[in-house]
Amino acid sequence: PKIVVLASGSGTNLQALIEATRERDFPGEIIAVGCNRPGAFALERAAQANIPTFVIDHTKSDSREAFDASLMAELHRHNPDVIVLAGFMRILTPDFVRAFRGRMLNIHPSLLPAYTGLNTHKRVLEAGDKVHGVSIHFVTEELDGGPVIAQSEIAVNPDDTPETLAERVQQQEHMLYPIVLRWFCEGRIQLSANGVQFDGTLL
Ligand code: GRF
Repeated sequence: PKIVVLASGSGTNLQALIEATRERDFPGEIIAVGCNRPGAFALERAAQANIPTFVIDHTKSDSREAFDASLMAELHRHNPDVIVLAGFMRILTPDFVRAFRGRMLNIHPSLLPAYTGLNTHKRVLEAGDKVHGVSIHFVTEELDGGPVIAQSEIAVNPDDTPETLAERVQQQEHMLYPIVLRWFCEGRIQLSANGVQFDGTLL
């Protein structure tokens, strides 16, 4: 299967996916990396790995719809089997999301459905939660709300700061995303009408 990864920032999740997909037995290939910010370090990571890149600068798009139309055109050019959002900090329009229903994954630094949105580590600390973690889900029209495929939990330590928490969550992200992407490329994960199926069993 052909994979396109979309990123906006440093691209550490992209890096983990590049390294995983390089393994000989990985059942998929990253054919392109797209960014909405020209200076994203994720572009550098892709270039180092000889993966084609494209940039759609959202500050130059006159609307969310126009941005999505440009992104849709790029994706039609590459015709991927799956789109992987890896720190992609854009909210996509419902039409765009519907076009890729069941073929677009996202990673979010919280144990969804808790803490959708931003600044999750700070909010977890403020709430005094004892556990935190990362979720990988199908992207649907609901922001950070799509059906969850997999999660990984970490314990919150009393002396944690948002930074130390983010560090441990990112370690889990870099472990979990390659595993889930492998399962998806092997056809083991499906988004059905009533939820996520793994090997044909509803999660
Ligand atoms: C990750 O923590 C991810 O969960 C969130 O944004 C961050 C992206 O980091 N969506 P990177 O660009 O993959 O390093």
